[in-house]
Amino acid sequence: MRQQTDLYVPNDVRLTTPRLLLAPLRTTHAPAFAALLGPDQAAIAMLSHMPDPLTPKAAAEWIELRTGPGGHVFALFLADGSFIGTSGFGGPRDGVPGFGYWIGAAYRGLGYATEAGEACIARARSLGARQMVAETFPGNRASERVLAKLGFVPQGQVERHYPLRGGWRRLMFHSLTIA
Ligand SMILES: CC(C)(COP(=O)(O)OP(=O)(O)OC[C@H]1O[C@@H](n2cnc3c(N)ncnc32)[C@H](O)[C@@H]1OP(=O)(O)O)[C@@H](O)C(=O)NCCC(=O)NCCS
Repeated sequence: MRQQTDLYVPNDVRLTTPRLLLAPLRTTHAPAFAALLGPDQAAIAMLSHMPDPLTPKAAAEWIELRTGPGGHVFALFLADGSFIGTSGFGGPRDGVPGFGYWIGAAYRGLGYATEAGEACIARARSLGARQMVAETFPGNRASERVLAKLGFVPQGQVERHYPLRGGWRRLMFHSLTIA
């Protein structure tokens, strides 16, 4: 049954965590987005809809598509202003949003994806979401670990058609019950 949520309110909040500022992602972030993620083809290969090559224009298009109604994607900044990646949720189906994220290579292994994820889940909860889902490509151990740390549970494999990632692919589906 469809859940009652406020998931379609515009994303205009700024969230803070002990080490991060989460600001609503905008197309003005596209140059920094493309500069940080664009050279990292291994990371792009783990992201279902990320264009490759990731030019500033392509990054702006990706951002545009994910920050309309129902989209709650954030640019992540350190206290010194460094842009380190994105995290967010959107595309709700029956009140259940999908969760996605990436962290620039230089900033990985420091707990930032998990820290940002906790803030995103709290935001989703405040908007009324009681469940969230995510998908990982095979072998993405770091992302599986992030999801596990956040409380997601693997639910088995799904087949998805992702043209930018080669067509039909098998991924692991994860879901979170938001307490
Ligand atoms: C997945 C990703 C966002 C993780 O970001 P991060 O800030 O390094 O994540 P965290 O530091 O919060 O947690 C990473 C965890 O994965 C673990 N990890 C990292 N590489 C791993 C590997 N190869 N095998 C097993 N575990 C691994 C880390 O040890 C850590 O777990 P721990 O806290 O128990 O030690 C980052 O690697 C990334 O951007 N990858 C490319 C894009 C991507 O895959 N996005 C997700 C798509 S589903």
